[in-house]
Amino acid sequence: MIQKPKGTKDILPNEVYKWQYIEKKITELMNNYGMKEIRVPVFEHTELFSRGVGETTDVVQKEMYTFEDKGGRSVTLRPEGTAGVVRAYIEDGLASQATPLKLWYEMPMYRYENVQKGRLREFRQIGTEIIGTGSFLADVEAILLGVNIFKVLNIPNIKITINSIGCPTCRAKYQDALRDFIRPNLDNYCDTCKTRFEKNPLRILDCKEEKCKELNQGAPVILDYLCDECRDHFENVQKYLKANGVDYEIDAGIVRGLDYYTKTVFEFISEDDGLTVLGGGRYDGLVEEVGGQPTPAVGFAMGMERLLEVFERANPDLVKEKTMDLYIASIGEEADIFATKLATDLRNEGVQVEKDICSRSLNAQFKYANKTNARYVLTIGENEVRENKARIKNMITGEETEINLTYDDIKKIIQ
Ligand code: HAM
Repeated sequence: MIQKPKGTKDILPNEVYKWQYIEKKITELMNNYGMKEIRVPVFEHTELFSRGVGETTDVVQKEMYTFEDKGGRSVTLRPEGTAGVVRAYIEDGLASQATPLKLWYEMPMYRYENVQKGRLREFRQIGTEIIGTGSFLADVEAILLGVNIFKVLNIPNIKITINSIGCPTCRAKYQDALRDFIRPNLDNYCDTCKTRFEKNPLRILDCKEEKCKELNQGAPVILDYLCDECRDHFENVQKYLKANGVDYEIDAGIVRGLDYYTKTVFEFISEDDGLTVLGGGRYDGLVEEVGGQPTPAVGFAMGMERLLEVFERANPDLVKEKTMDLYIASIGEEADIFATKLATDLRNEGVQVEKDICSRSLNAQFKYANKTNARYVLTIGENEVRENKARIKNMITGEETEINLTYDDIKKIIQ
């Protein structure tokens, strides 16, 4: 028996309707914010991610599904959505559209991770990217959109944490201070941290190794090193969040796992299990990094599997699987041909209808209707076809009614 690869998940019909509910709610909200959907390729040239996401990140160093295609090019299954969306923004000339460009996406992502609770190798993200504005108001809009998603999905117990990791100017000073702090203990850090010390010491703060976490206690915090512009930006974000009643915490420890961030970064964490459901921030240097004009931007992405988990926990009975409106049971070929036509007409009118496609006995057809929770069963034999009348049974109450076999009469009963 061939099993699915480790870290992947089958989303079965008895769960998929919950996904659809969440996706519908979020799509509506994205539309209400004027966000336009974008879809980009599952694989890109590897260089896009190594340059965009950053050479020293875990994602690029350890987690990418990279392979050579038959033409000898190195391609990578996208580990995240932002780099591909920014590539499309540049390549497809989206900069010429009204600015800011507000995009959203729902796409599967691939990371070769240590599989554990909430950590998959194929997972789905819904994300948004607001490209073309450096205003703090865009950071506020992104965070408020995140807050609103949890509101419309009726998910409580979400802790919102924010931080600022500054711009390249203030970060350079901070990195010096961080190196000074780490240097005396550098030998005791893990090998990965050692390789990141010169190039990108900020990554050392994000190390998951217990010994490195301990050594990082008491490290200088970037908030103390922000330049005036970055400090103003961060204060304005906070002023607006407070004015909008958003309950947030500043967590100076958030550095995020991807290198493109500047200024505001944020994470939404489930208080029930500590999993980060949403992560994002500003990335003012990425468009230029991957070959475009200097263009500020901000965005976030939510892990859909994690979102679904917190949604289900908070709303175990909110969404019910939609059951079939009507099953048309038939006896004999003439009735079956009639049933086939009637089912087609009703389906085209928006009614959910099933009929026998197994040449089963009437009894077996009823059993199937029962098992699939059809709400009504219409039984058609030769007489019914001739008289254009038939009995329809309400499968919940057991009540039977005779109706004309017209769309209007059927619709009247089943709606
Ligand atoms: P990220 O923090 O790497 O950010 O991922 C965003 C979210 O995706 C996480 O908070 C988590 O819910 C989910 N996620 C990440 N890795 C996994 C995994 N292995 N299994 C399940 N869920 C996972 C980004 O990807 C950025 N592109 C977000 C962004 C958009 N920043 C600006 N714009």
